[in-house]
Amino acid sequence: MLIAVDGPAASGKGTIARALARHFGLPHMDTGALYRAVGLSALDRATSLDDGPALAALAAALDLSLLEDPRLRHAATADAASRISALPAVRGALLALQRSFAAQPGGAVLDGRDIGTVIAPHAPAKLFVTASPQVRAARRHAELPGSDLDAVLADILARDARDSGRADAPLKQAPDADLLDTSEMTIDGAVQRAIHLVQSRT
Ligand code: C5P
Repeated sequence: MLIAVDGPAASGKGTIARALARHFGLPHMDTGALYRAVGLSALDRATSLDDGPALAALAAALDLSLLEDPRLRHAATADAASRISALPAVRGALLALQRSFAAQPGGAVLDGRDIGTVIAPHAPAKLFVTASPQVRAARRHAELPGSDLDAVLADILARDARDSGRADAPLKQAPDADLLDTSEMTIDGAVQRAIHLVQSRT
């Protein structure tokens, strides 16, 4: 059972992917955390966010302990992740890790931007989770005490534009993915709907 969950920032895809993994007893990989870890590592080493070869080397030798670093959730890290993820060399360096996670015999849940289109196009169950930019900004704002709602919305729109506009593995719904718009749903409601959609595909 392989489940691909894609969608824009703060759509609820991470929460839904974790809940699906728990429900079906599958391992889960948050692939955005990999890009964030590379971004954080680049910021720590003052590596230029345009230097493809240097960033690919960081990605290939990724320090997995960074996946536990609380700075992974900072806005500066998210911004760096979104910039470096447009570079094909960085995406290529993270490909094998994601594909081997997806190839586990018992199945897996992966969430990101290109799971259903590039990493696991053969996955039987694919969800494209979305919500309106206003709803996503309000959710992120509630998670980040002291943040400014307008700034969070501007940030989300900039990240959406970069993630959808890049040439390599842009954020887009796979033709065979089920669309789950969580704008008007509670977390529980969205999770129940996701479980139902996956069951109907597997
Ligand atoms: O999902 P999350 O917000 O943690 O992702 C951080 C950034 O990593 C995204 O803005 C996106 O640019 C990039 N990303 C990606 N492909 C993935 C997962 C994340 O390009 N599969």
